[in-house]
Amino acid sequence: MTPAAAATPFRVVCLAGDGIGPEVMREAIRALQALPLRIEVDERPFGGPGIRASGDPLPAATLTACREADAVLLAAVGSPEYERAEVRPEQGLLRIRSGLGVFANLRPVRADGVDVMIVRELSGGLYYGRKGRLSDGMAFDICEYHPWQIERIARRAFDLAAGRRQAVTLVDKYGVLETSKLWREVVDEIAAGYPDVRLDAMLVDNAAMQLVRDPGSFDVMLTENTFGDILSDVAAVATGGVGLAPSASLSEDGPGIFEPVHGSAPDIAGRGIANPAAMIRSAALMLEYGLGRTDEAGLLDRAVDEALRSTPTRDLGGTATTVEFGDAVVALLSTPEA
Ligand code: NAD
Ligand code: IPM
Ligand code: MN
Repeated sequence: MTPAAAATPFRVVCLAGDGIGPEVMREAIRALQALPLRIEVDERPFGGPGIRASGDPLPAATLTACREADAVLLAAVGSPEYERAEVRPEQGLLRIRSGLGVFANLRPVRADGVDVMIVRELSGGLYYGRKGRLSDGMAFDICEYHPWQIERIARRAFDLAAGRRQAVTLVDKYGVLETSKLWREVVDEIAAGYPDVRLDAMLVDNAAMQLVRDPGSFDVMLTENTFGDILSDVAAVATGGVGLAPSASLSEDGPGIFEPVHGSAPDIAGRGIANPAAMIRSAALMLEYGLGRTDEAGLLDRAVDEALRSTPTRDLGGTATTVEFGDAVVALLSTPEA
């Protein structure tokens, strides 16, 4: 038992959201509670449940609780029920990210011979640029970046690379996009402060192809919001599927949001067959990057790796249910010296 097990508990806000969200969140909470540390879980409405409770996918009390927490664990939002609605669960996701100031979305992808860290900028680009409709019927979403937004995410990518295999690949659409030109200028300047880290640049279409062809060739991939969204799903499939892929969304110094790469999977929701590995791995990222508990993060990651071998879910060709996978993780964590 570590000394901190008796110390003040960590306060974690859990946002289960929609679809398979509550199913995978339950297993992540059980796994965290099987670890030798104290975590106080505060479950709050978010996404569809927020809309149903108060008409808002991100109720004010939920955001306040997140701001006061040590970390936020988020499963998934989005539901066909709200596809055509004015108020949609996904709006809550964009607002909670900006509300907590998280701008660095780390999406690690690991498999045999593959260890890629996708560093996705999360606060700018098409998602947060000016958007609207004009009187002639035209719609627009503007891709916008300030140099300071690029600087701070580039620093994160180079800091990470310095502790890994010392290579950063900047992914962009240079030659077409003005924002890509700015990214190259700013990233070149930041790179000058990291003489030991190699920087290369790759066009996004080629990067998607190379991720499928040879994911082992990448160390850190640095990219803007939309490209990072798409590339992380591509990378996940290249290494076993979105059911395995976690992420950490970090700010300058406030609580981070730890969320799987996948969505609410309405096609399998309510059947108890979703793979909770991505959610549990997101909890491990929370321990590592959010709470500074690297040892427990390692315990949890190793338990997930072992459960993937012993108790695979359907997306991996196995037969285990969500709860059976969670049971396997809890059993492994409860074994002394797991
Ligand atoms: P999705 O990631 O939910 O599902 C894509 C496919 O992967 C589906 O076939 C699904 O069954 C499968 N899948 C996803 N997670 C799985 C898991 N843990 N185990 C087994 N299979 C899994 O993407 P989608 O269908 O395009 O989106 C559904 C909804 O989720 C939409 O409303 C979308 O906006 C939302 N979404 C939310 C987030 C988030 O909350 N962070 C992320 C992506 C999509
Ligand atoms: C993700 C999701 C979200 C995104 C959606 C649901 C807004 O796809 O976290 O990858 O595009 O960021
Ligand atoms: Mn996505």
